[in-house]
Amino acid sequence: MHTIDLSGKNGAVFGVANEWSIAWHIAQALDGAGARLAIAYQNQRLRERVERLTTQLRQPPLLLQCDVQNEEEVASAFARIGEAFGTLHMLVHSIAYAQREDISGAFLKTRREGFRIALEVSAYSFLLLVREAVPLMREGGSILTLTFQASQRVFPGYNIMGTAKAALEQEVRQLAYELGPQNIRVNAISAGPLDTLAARGIHGFVDMKRIHAERSPLKRNITHQEVAQSALFLLSDLSSGVTGAILPVDAGYHIVGL
Ligand SMILES: NC(=O)c1ccc[n+]([C@@H]2O[C@H](COP(=O)([O-])OP(=O)(O)OC[C@H]3O[C@@H](n4cnc5c(N)ncnc54)[C@H](O)[C@@H]3O)[C@@H](O)[C@H]2O)c1
Repeated sequence: MHTIDLSGKNGAVFGVANEWSIAWHIAQALDGAGARLAIAYQNQRLRERVERLTTQLRQPPLLLQCDVQNEEEVASAFARIGEAFGTLHMLVHSIAYAQREDISGAFLKTRREGFRIALEVSAYSFLLLVREAVPLMREGGSILTLTFQASQRVFPGYNIMGTAKAALEQEVRQLAYELGPQNIRVNAISAGPLDTLAARGIHGFVDMKRIHAERSPLKRNITHQEVAQSALFLLSDLSSGVTGAILPVDAGYHIVGL
């Protein structure tokens, strides 16, 4: 019988905005397993809410403000993580953004700026966070990001975010290869639709959720907690033989043809 005990392990979770954030649910699971956490939120506007949320955790986390478009903020976030923890064992990247006009209407109309912003925030940021985290992962580590099946198949309205997720998934494989010799594993969860701030921006999200529930083998939508539990598995030593994987947590929707 194996239980997940993360006491003595340090994790950094990027992308908590509110109680619906996938990152928040992963943070709760890691905290519940005994890990010490750094939690990063995007900007001042989110600070109070995130501060209030984290009072629910068993161990008070190190709270960090970090906009991934600002390289200085990213560097200073990791400097603070290094000072506080010394060694980092786990990193969670749960960040995505595209301009509203680029996640509805014709994909063909996507402008250079919209393309740049979506790819920079949703895909380049992963590389950036991993680069900063690796020097702190002296004992090896496990890194996780969140993706969506629009990287492979067309979901109308997902548009540029599908392009960004394709890039992100390629980064998972490339980094898994590069960091394997240091015993640092890199994986992604490809989640089914969940009600979050980011998801509400996707045109047709309500239909997407309904159709997933109707057609998936499990005949329902997934829960935030199911993603968090799979994250716990991928971030812990229980998955020590797994790297470069994109794990679908989608009630099986990805296998269905019709
Ligand atoms: N909700 C879903 O249905 C679903 C499904 C599959 C994958 N995902 C992915 O899960 C991840 C988390 O999204 P979520 O659904 O929890 O929504 P969310 O809105 O709670 O999280 C998105 C996070 O990205 C952060 N962010 C955006 N721009 C940023 C920037 N410049 N710097 C720092 N942080 C920034 C936001 O502040 C927020 O915390 C995303 O990668 C999303 O694509 C979500």
